[in-house]
Amino acid sequence: MLLTVKNSPALKQKTGCLVVAVNEGKLGTPLLKELDAALDGPISRASREGEFRGASGQALLLHTGKRLPAQRLLLVGIGKSRKKAPTRLRQAAGSALEQVRATHTASFALDLASFCAKGLDLATAQAVAEGLLLGSYRFDRYQSESDDDPPADPKGVLLVRGSKELALAGQAAERAGHVVDGVSLARNLVNEPGNVKSPAYLANQARELAQQVGIKCEVLEREQLEALGCGALLGVAQGSQREPKLITLEYSGDHDDAQPIVLVGKGVVFDAGGISLKPAEKMDEMKMDMAGGAVVFGVLKAAALLKLPLNLVGIVPAVENLPSGSAYRPGDILTSLSGKTIEVLNTDAEGRLILADALTFAAKYQPRVVIDLATLTGACIIALGHYAAAVLGNHDGLIRQLIQAGNKSGERLWQLPLWSDYANQLKSHVADLKNIGGRPAGTITAAAFLQKFADDYTWAHLDIAGTAWEEKGQPCCPKGGTGFGVRLLLEYLQTK
Ligand code: BES
Ligand code: MN
Ligand code: ZN
Repeated sequence: MLLTVKNSPALKQKTGCLVVAVNEGKLGTPLLKELDAALDGPISRASREGEFRGASGQALLLHTGKRLPAQRLLLVGIGKSRKKAPTRLRQAAGSALEQVRATHTASFALDLASFCAKGLDLATAQAVAEGLLLGSYRFDRYQSESDDDPPADPKGVLLVRGSKELALAGQAAERAGHVVDGVSLARNLVNEPGNVKSPAYLANQARELAQQVGIKCEVLEREQLEALGCGALLGVAQGSQREPKLITLEYSGDHDDAQPIVLVGKGVVFDAGGISLKPAEKMDEMKMDMAGGAVVFGVLKAAALLKLPLNLVGIVPAVENLPSGSAYRPGDILTSLSGKTIEVLNTDAEGRLILADALTFAAKYQPRVVIDLATLTGACIIALGHYAAAVLGNHDGLIRQLIQAGNKSGERLWQLPLWSDYANQLKSHVADLKNIGGRPAGTITAAAFLQKFADDYTWAHLDIAGTAWEEKGQPCCPKGGTGFGVRLLLEYLQTK
């Protein structure tokens, strides 16, 4: 969606829909009074009758009947609290766009100042722009067009007053554009169906991305993985005809050669469970089992576009987990890249196997910090549902920073403990460890497994099983891949 900025009064703006935010109970601002007067009092009437008072989530759509240059006026409630959480503003902007689209208009103009508590600030302006851009995301490349569809891309203008504000809004819109480019890439990759997205497809996407934003991409092929000794990754991959790939992306934004931050993302392009086959119900959703990898691609893209002043490496082990005559079996013992042997007791616990090798591989970059993201356990959905991802790791400071970035971005994290006791559940009689720890604390034992391969550096693990996929559809995210983690990590990286 095209989003521009303009220095012009809201009352004078010719547009399909003028969008103005309203603080709860505050319908007497100069702008709202002028609008009310120009339209013959519909705002004060709606307020008197209790139809609209600006509560968060409320909206009032009015046709102006040529009494304003704008064809319609949309008031969106943003609630009470004086310190506006960016999350709420992002959502308000997203649902405003949803309603704008429902009118089938081709253009809208949004009064940016009405969203801000006092003067215009960058964080608020960026949150609003992000909400609009996130809300405009669609994955419709496999659907024929229909006349009933609202225009996919109404043209949007952010209205400000004054040249200083104009520059600020411009900067906010640009940054939001880069962030949402990253989120959209992640969503697209997750939404792409399994028949299309082989590990080779992901590798090609990575190469294209690297070309596009000027970063480095390297792909290790099966023979190279064999030579290296990535037995855990190769074990998972052997059930599928499609060759595994170990994809790396490198962005250098710090020219002093500082140690990089390494992001590792699970890239299981489809997880049928292997010989420990999953039930048929909702198995289709397991095309999203590469969401962690998709987020890594998205973050690298946005970081390069934003020119963040740091060095960043992305590692995505890409495989498919299928049952077949060549598939790995329960009882198999795999030798991982680290040299540790793993007894496979459930082939559906494949994510930790490919991540084990990727985490060992990460050490060669002498990372400052390693963060992995994975749709790792169904148990995480049982623990936290769909409103937060789990965070665990070996460094409390890092975990604290990530939780903070999560709260700021609205992509929330909740810490689970990683006491050494949990590793007891992974003891094997025939190998160094087994790949499942039984029913109790499934998310934690999965992390305890990963920890064995992340011993050499500061590390955190995000289990995004419950947040990578949107089941119903929200104002800022339609059904399907969410890109959860991109904005959170960009927020974290901004403080580095
Ligand atoms: N990809 C799944 C986890 C998952 C489940 C993600 C639902 C998103 C939604 C993972 O590979 C898996 O199958 N985990 C098993 C582990 C078990 C066998 C120890 C699980 O959670 O059931
Ligand atoms: Mn699985
Ligand atoms: Zn999986």
